[in-house]
Amino acid sequence: MNHFELQDGQLFCEGVPLAKIAEAVGSPVYVYSSATLERHYTVLRDALLAAGLKDPLIAFAVKANSNVAVLKTLANLGAGADVVSEGEIRRALAAGVAPERIVFSGVGKTEAEIAFALETGVAEINVESEPELRLIDQVGQRLGKRATVAIRVNPDVEAGGHAKISTGKAENKFGVSFAEAERLYANASNMAGLKPVGVACHIGSQITDLGPMEAAFRKMRGLVERLHAEGLHIERLDLGGGLGVPYFNQPEPPGPEEYARMVGRVTEGLGVQLAFEPGRVIAANAGVLVARVQHIHVRPEGRRFVVLDAAMNDLVRPAMYDAYHDIRPLNPRPGEPVVYDVVGPVCETGDTFTRDRALSPMEAGDLIAFMSAGAYGAAMASEYNSRPLVPEVLVRGDQWAVVRPRPTYAEMLERERPAPWL
Ligand code: LLP
Repeated sequence: MNHFELQDGQLFCEGVPLAKIAEAVGSPVYVYSSATLERHYTVLRDALLAAGLKDPLIAFAVKANSNVAVLKTLANLGAGADVVSEGEIRRALAAGVAPERIVFSGVGKTEAEIAFALETGVAEINVESEPELRLIDQVGQRLGKRATVAIRVNPDVEAGGHAKISTGKAENKFGVSFAEAERLYANASNMAGLKPVGVACHIGSQITDLGPMEAAFRKMRGLVERLHAEGLHIERLDLGGGLGVPYFNQPEPPGPEEYARMVGRVTEGLGVQLAFEPGRVIAANAGVLVARVQHIHVRPEGRRFVVLDAAMNDLVRPAMYDAYHDIRPLNPRPGEPVVYDVVGPVCETGDTFTRDRALSPMEAGDLIAFMSAGAYGAAMASEYNSRPLVPEVLVRGDQWAVVRPRPTYAEMLERERPAPWL
């Protein structure tokens, strides 16, 4: 459920007509619903508690939506943060996330980032390889600290989803094998700069079948039990993120309740804290990208192009993953649906949001919303074609606030410097 609904023929976000925001801020613009973010977080938390989990750590994957106001909305409910860079640690801290609720993942953490994480006192650094384990140990020793680490395992399961976002197969770059994990965990226990506290996995994103997840989690349980049996201290099992969301044209993926029940079943009696790194399932359906129709361009052979003022630099998912986003007019016009190709103004054919989509009739000047754009939308936006970075707005009830303004052209150019020889 989300809070983007038609009221009197107008698309609203909670109590605010989206058109009102677009008029005031201009388009394109991302708009997020606080109530939806809060609902998705609490539904997941309550489902995990109902499944018998004690004190689960729900670390929102900052990469999905890194806006500090969004992070703060979730942090106020007790959410932690799953981060993959120093920049994301800084964002989580700026949003008031306690360091003990921050989990630091990623295959290529730099020495400086590791040092920053240790100074910050993050809950856990997820180690992705043996060289990284050694590096963290060195940094820990240099700083006179023992880094709390979890070993990220690659459970070697096929989780489906798009090839570019599947992470759990042995051929992917993430994590180590189970045998390696056991060896590294034991080694880490004897390294002066490390304190191993757990094991972690994450098998992919937009997963719509719980089968592969369950298979991976069962293997992870086995690993925890083996480490216990070896007399090693282990207190946390991090099961990553990855739960899919409905993008409108797909079969309904399993919901948080079903996921939580499965996790509860698989981990029953294990006696470790469970951690989760959900991104999409919390943020995707809590945000939309609003854009304006520039032209309707009809080609002689009959193809109808809706040319928007939003482009692949603002929402790259369709160009990058062939992702489907529902497109809804802010003020739907009456009449039979018309088949359109919806494109942006960027000079490449990849700047196509959809082809052959039946939509209600459109005219130049109309406003539309790309639905389910709250995850991996603004977070992946760029200034390609020197288009100013897309702004973001947060709605709460009948209030709304610009939480990242659109930069001016002067601000865009100010970031650059002349070379002395030019
Ligand atoms: N934890 C780790 C270690 C991850 O790599 C990811 C996502 C997550 C958690 C959060 O996964 P989620 O719950 O959001 O599925 N840009 C792509 C998605 C990339 C996902 C990368 N890793 C997209 O737009 O579909």
